[in-house]
Amino acid sequence: MIDPATDRVLITGAAGAIGTALRNGLRAGWANLRLTDARPIQNPANNEEAIIADVSDRAAVEKLMVGVKAVVHLTGVGGEYTLEDLFRVNARGVFGVFEAARLAGVERIVYASSNHAFGCYPITENVHPGLPPRPDSLYGAFKVFGETMLRAYFDRHGIRSVSMRIGTYRTLPIDQRSLATWLSPGDVARLVDASLRHPDPGALIVNGYSANTRIKTHDPNWGFLGYQPLDNAEDHVEMLRAKGVDVDGPWEWLEHGGHHARAPERKPR
Ligand SMILES: NC(=O)c1ccc[n+]([C@@H]2O[C@H](COP(=O)([O-])OP(=O)(O)OC[C@H]3O[C@@H](n4cnc5c(N)ncnc54)[C@H](O)[C@@H]3O)[C@@H](O)[C@H]2O)c1
Repeated sequence: MIDPATDRVLITGAAGAIGTALRNGLRAGWANLRLTDARPIQNPANNEEAIIADVSDRAAVEKLMVGVKAVVHLTGVGGEYTLEDLFRVNARGVFGVFEAARLAGVERIVYASSNHAFGCYPITENVHPGLPPRPDSLYGAFKVFGETMLRAYFDRHGIRSVSMRIGTYRTLPIDQRSLATWLSPGDVARLVDASLRHPDPGALIVNGYSANTRIKTHDPNWGFLGYQPLDNAEDHVEMLRAKGVDVDGPWEWLEHGGHHARAPERKPR
């Protein structure tokens, strides 16, 4: 059990978009937060300790773990990335954080995976986390690597974890696809909070979406975890319509991963 009143929780990638939402959402309920990022972390509160570190610096990561009971691992590169960055941050960095956590006796890891872990499933298939992964990109394949590592860390070392297959995290929905895939700032905090508090999630994989009317996945693990999303992208449909987004036309994407699943062939690496 992770006790919000006493146990220290480390959040990596804390200066990023999701990290900032988590700080806002968790600060009131979690007494002891350690925040880390390669970039400066703005205005730490009294119950937040901010440490600048690069996730590929193993010695620094081991120091971050001292006295930590749970880790929320958000650090990652996405969007435009080089193969080297992906290896350094999303593979070696993930390994370094999980391994340092194990050595330090960390009991819970919450990991920012992605919907791109199953992005090649056709949109007509009502995907759930029990299906085999079908990553739509190297980025998605590396997220599956992290999930698989956590499976092994539970089976071999008893470290409980939740891998969140986050959809589209934004302050507000941004396009037609995100009417299905949006994860709001409030809901990402609720999802992480539930993932930290659950007494025994095993090595759970869970979809990270808000309660969107147009959602195209289903997830029995929400009930198991006690995750109750409160936001719905549909509440923002008029805002999108006013911006010229086609909110009424046919669905734009053939696969869950959107454009990732139809990206042009890359040059040989
Ligand atoms: N935003 C989304 O829609 C979305 C969807 C699916 C998954 N995710 C995953 O969630 C996580 C957080 O996403 P985000 O949107 O907050 O991204 P973000 O880019 O806003 O934040 C990532 C943070 O990681 C930090 N970082 C990058 N490389 C680092 C390194 N080597 N050492 C230390 N810090 C480093 C960056 O400085 C940044 O603050 C990522 O792992 C991402 O892949 C995000």
